Amino acid sequence: MKQFKRTTVTSALPYANGPVHIGHLAGVYVPADIYVRYLRLKGEEVIFIGGSDEHGVPITIKARNEGVTPQDVVDRYHGIIKQSFKDFGISFDVYSRTTSKIHHEMASDMFKTIEAKGGFVEQTSEQYYDEEARQFLADRYITGKCPHCGNERAYGDQCEACGTSLSPTDLLNPKSTISGSTPVLRETKHWYLPLDRHEAWLRRWILEDHREWKTNVYGQCKSWLDMGLQPRAVSRDLDWGIPVPVAGGEGKVLYVWFDAPIGYVSNTKEICDAHPEKYGNWEKWWKDEDSRIVHFIGKDNIVFHCIVFPAMLKAEGSFVLPDNVPANEFLNLEGDKISTSRNWAVWLHEYLIDFPGKQDVLRYALTANAPETKDNDFTWRDFQARNNSELVAIYGNFVNRALTLTHKYFDGKTPALGALTRYDKDTLEQISGFKFQVSSLLDSFHFRDALRETINLARVGNKYLADTEPWKLAKTDMERVSTIMYISLQIAANLAIAFEPFLPFSSQKLRSMLNITEFSWADLGRTDLLKEGNQLANPELLFEKIEDEAIEAQIQKLLDTKKANEAANRKSNPVKENVAFDDFMKMDIRVGTVLDCQKAPKADKLLQFRIADGLEERTILSGIAQHYPNPQELIGTQVCFIANFEPRKLRGMMSEGMILSAEDADGKLVLIQPKAKVADGSEVK
Ligand code: 2FM
Ligand code: ZN
Repeated sequence: MKQFKRTTVTSALPYANGPVHIGHLAGVYVPADIYVRYLRLKGEEVIFIGGSDEHGVPITIKARNEGVTPQDVVDRYHGIIKQSFKDFGISFDVYSRTTSKIHHEMASDMFKTIEAKGGFVEQTSEQYYDEEARQFLADRYITGKCPHCGNERAYGDQCEACGTSLSPTDLLNPKSTISGSTPVLRETKHWYLPLDRHEAWLRRWILEDHREWKTNVYGQCKSWLDMGLQPRAVSRDLDWGIPVPVAGGEGKVLYVWFDAPIGYVSNTKEICDAHPEKYGNWEKWWKDEDSRIVHFIGKDNIVFHCIVFPAMLKAEGSFVLPDNVPANEFLNLEGDKISTSRNWAVWLHEYLIDFPGKQDVLRYALTANAPETKDNDFTWRDFQARNNSELVAIYGNFVNRALTLTHKYFDGKTPALGALTRYDKDTLEQISGFKFQVSSLLDSFHFRDALRETINLARVGNKYLADTEPWKLAKTDMERVSTIMYISLQIAANLAIAFEPFLPFSSQKLRSMLNITEFSWADLGRTDLLKEGNQLANPELLFEKIEDEAIEAQIQKLLDTKKANEAANRKSNPVKENVAFDDFMKMDIRVGTVLDCQKAPKADKLLQFRIADGLEERTILSGIAQHYPNPQELIGTQVCFIANFEPRKLRGMMSEGMILSAEDADGKLVLIQPKAKVADGSEVK
């Protein structure tokens, strides 16, 4: 394996249109921070890059709704987000923003370089234009009637009533949400990154050279690549963003997903320019073959970091490509998807008001339950149990006993190591072996398991004290007590180092109590970390029990949110008019087996199903691609579909029926599937 000299760690730049919540922390920022702290402790050269993503249409919509400017919106949230990360100990070397001057220059330069090398193709297409507001309209700025279900308030990119993905020209009676006028079609030119040209090397680079990537990441890349890559537009007709810096680009900006990842580079430049003595030149972090780039992201960002951004870097020509992209899946909250619009979240700034000083408890609970391989659920009961039964009962309890007993018997000074029993030797060996195990888990991004190993070391300490019972020996054999306390204190010192990446606040507190000033990962496993005579400070509790009332208050808060959402939902999505039995009977809903399922060509949101319907096979297109990133997993399962739905053309392909899905208030779509296998063609009644 290649040895690198330094590591550039990036974490996804959150959109500055809302505060950050536990899902952000669990999916991206805590794992990235654990990794960086670990590398720093090993004495490696590392830089940790963060920042806010401040462009894009949703920010302009929020600003318009609030009657303020987009700059006002991002100024507000950039500050809140930055503070939350600081409060939780996310140890960025830089946390900047994509509205900075350096970033605008860097992204413009990158665009110009790629353009000059012929790395884009220009294409003209017709898009809706608002003649009153005198601007082209982003898909979300157009509403109209859905051609499939008749919903009058469908958006230009999707009908949220029937889930079908749309393009603005599919809408009947389209209206601009800016002026309310009927938009007209006008020709407009855009720059496209021709991903099809990059497909061959991307296939080799990912599928052959990076088989070690996490299976969720590798699998998603493979599915994109197997579908065939299409050119992607990298400019937009919008007035918020970085102006397209070449002739013909007037009135247009770079697509937010073009400029955002460049933010990693410009933020690196910002900190390197400010502190060259510490970080050197920014280019070494991005252009030197000896630099290893690691992107921490959530699963919804995989395609941009594994396919689009590498293609941009390759087209530019002077950058190295990422070495790993350890993306996580999603964290749910009490069984439901976290949602900003439904306020279904635990906001970091609110958590700290309710649980002041308990940053490490949340870091611990989120890492112990991290969505590393699949979506996971955060529950307040689990949070309480992690605190009370693990942090308090195991780690905190052990440390407290070790320190209190040392104060009681040895005036708070590390005592001498005397003769060793077999049990002492076994315990010391466990300390020495621990380092290798945790290191290899951290090296391979298995943070959850690494944390489990670390708390297990505290378990070893607890058991050692419980088994040797120094408080009983104190009357008869102080030499033995001395050895037991010496060994216990070495375990505590190892815990202070090993927990540093995971729980930096309590580790710092423990190091102060143990009087450890200098430490590194290399010290881990040593059994002479505290020298005889070393004076300990007075013990303080590392963690406190969290009472039921505090947890019940949080659960009640969520129940209140749920009630408010249900009321709002009933209001905005009332039950439709009654239909007569005969009308219902006109619908022919059947069950069929999925013979094949893949993303439809040239339509990001459509899945193309081949269905065995009991008589023959039929093709049905369904706008659920975003909700099923691995469509091949549906092959062999059964779905329900309207068999007599009038065939229709979607994106140039015939669709013979409609597949049924359920949609929640967030727009999440889940296929309706029979629980037990039935014959294909069975009617749904
Ligand atoms: O999904 C998001 O929240 C994006 N703002 C992430 C951008 S990551 C990077 F490219 F900046
Ligand atoms: Zn519809």
